[in-house]
Amino acid sequence: MPAQNTAVLGAQWGDEGKGKIINHLARSHDWVVRFSGGPNAGHTIYFEGRKLVHHVLPSLHVGSAARGWLGSAMVLDLEKLVAELARFEEPFPGFGRRFTIDRDAFLILPWHRAEDEHLEGLRRTAIGTTRRGIGPAYADKVARRGVRIGDVHSPRLLPALEELHATKRGLYPTLELAPAREVADALRRQLDSLLASGMTLSTTVESARDFEGASILYEGAQGIMLDIEFGTYPYVTSALCGLAAIHACGFARWMPARVLGVIKAYCTRVGEGPFPSEVHGDEGDAIRRAGGEFGATTGRPRRIGWLDLPALRYAAQKGGITHWVMTKQDILDGRPTVPVCTAHEVDGRELHTPANADQLARARPVWRELPGWAGHADPRFRDYARFVERETGVPLLLVSHGPATEDITDWK
Ligand code: IMP
Repeated sequence: MPAQNTAVLGAQWGDEGKGKIINHLARSHDWVVRFSGGPNAGHTIYFEGRKLVHHVLPSLHVGSAARGWLGSAMVLDLEKLVAELARFEEPFPGFGRRFTIDRDAFLILPWHRAEDEHLEGLRRTAIGTTRRGIGPAYADKVARRGVRIGDVHSPRLLPALEELHATKRGLYPTLELAPAREVADALRRQLDSLLASGMTLSTTVESARDFEGASILYEGAQGIMLDIEFGTYPYVTSALCGLAAIHACGFARWMPARVLGVIKAYCTRVGEGPFPSEVHGDEGDAIRRAGGEFGATTGRPRRIGWLDLPALRYAAQKGGITHWVMTKQDILDGRPTVPVCTAHEVDGRELHTPANADQLARARPVWRELPGWAGHADPRFRDYARFVERETGVPLLLVSHGPATEDITDWK
């Protein structure tokens, strides 16, 4: 009996610890499918004492037989992908053979990275992007001038790049941009190197037979609160982060039966934007240190906050979340009390669930202090977990209570 198709979504502002959960579940699935974003993500896992950071390669378990699929709604930077694969191939030769890239995925070009940097500098309030070129690559896709990985070995490549180069020169006359021919040569070399590792290109139509009857684990990136549709716009990423992105990758026939929303026992955010339950000062610093809350991709310190139940109710509804998975439970061990934001005060009214991200952006937190706990088996932590389940109407499936792979408990 194959495992159910399962999606793992971030239910906060990213960095919820999805990598470890995906890696844990990947052992019992045939496929791990990354369906959105690009090298802005950083999913950290530990295997046999090694720390491995996945930016775009699906977080499959090295010791399993699972295969990885890089979906067409992602944006891929081939230069970075070659470097990422090399970091895995060194300890695990042949790793590249386990991955297939959808040839319809769009490319992040060196120009996009320069543009991301440039636009951040022009904004009155920067978004605080990862500067990986994500927004400009998705913008070119939507503006119908993007370049796909399937174009790299086609005669279309150079004319498409030359046209895009001319457009960028018109838009950003001061920006230094490598010539189109140089970019084309580099792309061909990079794709050849990926294919030489055994990585393959395909589409969900060509590979449909591989998915029929197989169990698929969908690996979310970023989180519902950073989603281009549902998140705290404009302080969001440029991608869909929920189920719509799985559809966009062509997996409509194999949609997940379970949608797991990953949350920390508290909350973090990197970059600018609303964060109603944020804590400043020594208290935030202490949690940042204890939880190692520094970005896996950029190394930036993460902003810290307490659990925000209205934001979770909102994420559960927008994301279609069927279960929670809570991570970093141990980071709050030993505290006398744990504050939780139970409602938002907006325009003098107390709200249970924000109607949209704008209400969330204007919210002031209403707090409740719950008793702290000594560890995940402590009945007071069970009370905290039950409180979250009751208040959000979503059951908890797993709790991660330490950095090691085995520090995950089924929650019943
Ligand atoms: P971009 O995705 O690089 O355009 O960045 C847009 C916003 O999303 C910024 O606030 C980033 O910090 C945030 N962001 C993007 N990727 C991640 C992630 O993987 N974890 C957490 N925040 C992210």
